[in-house]
Amino acid sequence: MIVDGDAPLDWDPARAGIEGLTRSGRRSLVGVLARAFRDNPMNVRIHGPDPRRRVRANAAGLRSLVLDHSERVIVMGMAYGSRVIGGFVLAPPGARRLPGPSFRRQIECLCLQGPAAMAAWSEVAVGVPDHRPVEDHWYLAVLGVEPTWQGRGVGAALLAEIGRWVSRDPRPICLESDRPASVRFYQRHGFAIRAEGEVRGVPCWCLGRGFPRGTAE
Ligand SMILES: CC(C)(COP(=O)(O)OP(=O)(O)OC[C@H]1O[C@@H](n2cnc3c(N)ncnc32)[C@H](O)[C@@H]1OP(=O)(O)O)[C@@H](O)C(=O)NCCC(=O)NCCS
Repeated sequence: MIVDGDAPLDWDPARAGIEGLTRSGRRSLVGVLARAFRDNPMNVRIHGPDPRRRVRANAAGLRSLVLDHSERVIVMGMAYGSRVIGGFVLAPPGARRLPGPSFRRQIECLCLQGPAAMAAWSEVAVGVPDHRPVEDHWYLAVLGVEPTWQGRGVGAALLAEIGRWVSRDPRPICLESDRPASVRFYQRHGFAIRAEGEVRGVPCWCLGRGFPRGTAE
């Protein structure tokens, strides 16, 4: 039986269960993602040098995406024992761009991020190169692994699960990242850079997989 704590050396994330999360699992995933993205360059640029502040601010920004759109997006996670250790939010083809956060979420963000950071994130949203095709496609809104669990194959296992979803309705998938190590991770898993740019002085990359040859920039 799996228990909480360190995974044994022979623990294989490729064989671990990945499942749709309950409300409480999704709440745990918010924390995991807030920590996973803590040191990403845009977070540091917008929320400053205090890592605890960055985690709090990230969690406020992620709640809307992870908790409020379960009927529109696929939210899945990997658990080790009772702990969520990684997960993703995937928008299927046909899902329109998600509506902005509710009034309540905006108030939470105002308290935990502050108005300047909220304005900065709005600038990021419009500043990232517009790389998403007009045709229906999958969109990986977020994928993250608890920092202490990174580099053990959890991300690869989650990406394999994403691949299984995509294979049910084979269309291109795209995403954005501001972290060079994450870009390399995706490239090793068959993604290509489709566009790159700089927002608020931070480089960012738009990647895709499954696009017809020659459409990647
Ligand atoms: C990007 C991210 C999701 C990758 O997750 P991860 O769990 O670290 O990924 P993996 O462990 O599968 O792969 C990373 C590297 O770890 C190493 N690794 C993989 N399996 C391993 C294992 N069983 N044992 C030891 N090392 C392993 C490998 O070097 C691997 O590189 P490879 O792709 O050449 O095999 C994670 O680093 C993350 O959350 N980053 C911050 C958030 C982010 O930027 N997300 C992406 C934008 S949405």
